[in-house]
Amino acid sequence: METKVDWFECVRKNKDIESSGLNNDFIYFFDKFRKAVADSSILLVGTGSTELMFTEWPRILKVLGAKNITYLELFDGYISKFSNREYKIVKGDVKKIDEYFEKNKFDIVCWFHGPEHIKQKEMPQTFSKIKGLVSKGLVSICPFGSYYADAGTEENVYELHLQPDMVVSDFDSVVGLDFFSVGEKDTADAVIIGYYFGGIYG
Ligand SMILES: C[S@@+](CC[C@H](N)C(=O)[O-])C[C@H]1O[C@@H](n2cnc3c(N)ncnc32)[C@H](O)[C@@H]1O
Repeated sequence: METKVDWFECVRKNKDIESSGLNNDFIYFFDKFRKAVADSSILLVGTGSTELMFTEWPRILKVLGAKNITYLELFDGYISKFSNREYKIVKGDVKKIDEYFEKNKFDIVCWFHGPEHIKQKEMPQTFSKIKGLVSKGLVSICPFGSYYADAGTEENVYELHLQPDMVVSDFDSVVGLDFFSVGEKDTADAVIIGYYFGGIYG
């Protein structure tokens, strides 16, 4: 069966996941995600450059019951653009996330469209630092393949894809998380999702 899916839309519109064509890995993940997000404090890594990027994940998370949302962002231009808005922004590098927040300050860290912006060898320690902070879990999303390889702005070096063609096996050295792909490699909607949920959420 054609696996190209717009899982983002599926979540956004809160459609019936089972009938959407999404794979079993996604259905299994999403059930845990939905339960964990309810009533949670969430840290989102990366505001993105546009109004839509800044507001869309928070909107989805709130639909799923998130209690409050904070951003971590490294690029000064985006921090000034979105300062004094509805979500607090902390300046910092996700690779040093443990330097900015105490353990359990956030229930969940969502690092969406992020791992492609750091080096492969930096991923194990970064994921481990995130995992050490959260009370419920963490979720990451990155492109599956090279569709967005050339994405990035001259304005923001942090938007460059230091990993331009990601596949699930790139995460082999990241321990304690499950990774799976959704969609057909190298297409616009194809993503790799990684997650960890602990305790009753696992
Ligand atoms: C492709 S955008 C994704 C934006 C948003 N999370 C989304 O899913 O639409 C990547 C964002 O991560 C930020 N970023 C890149 N490297 C980072 C790092 N090491 N620490 C924190 N933020 C970083 C970029 O500046 C940008 O805002």
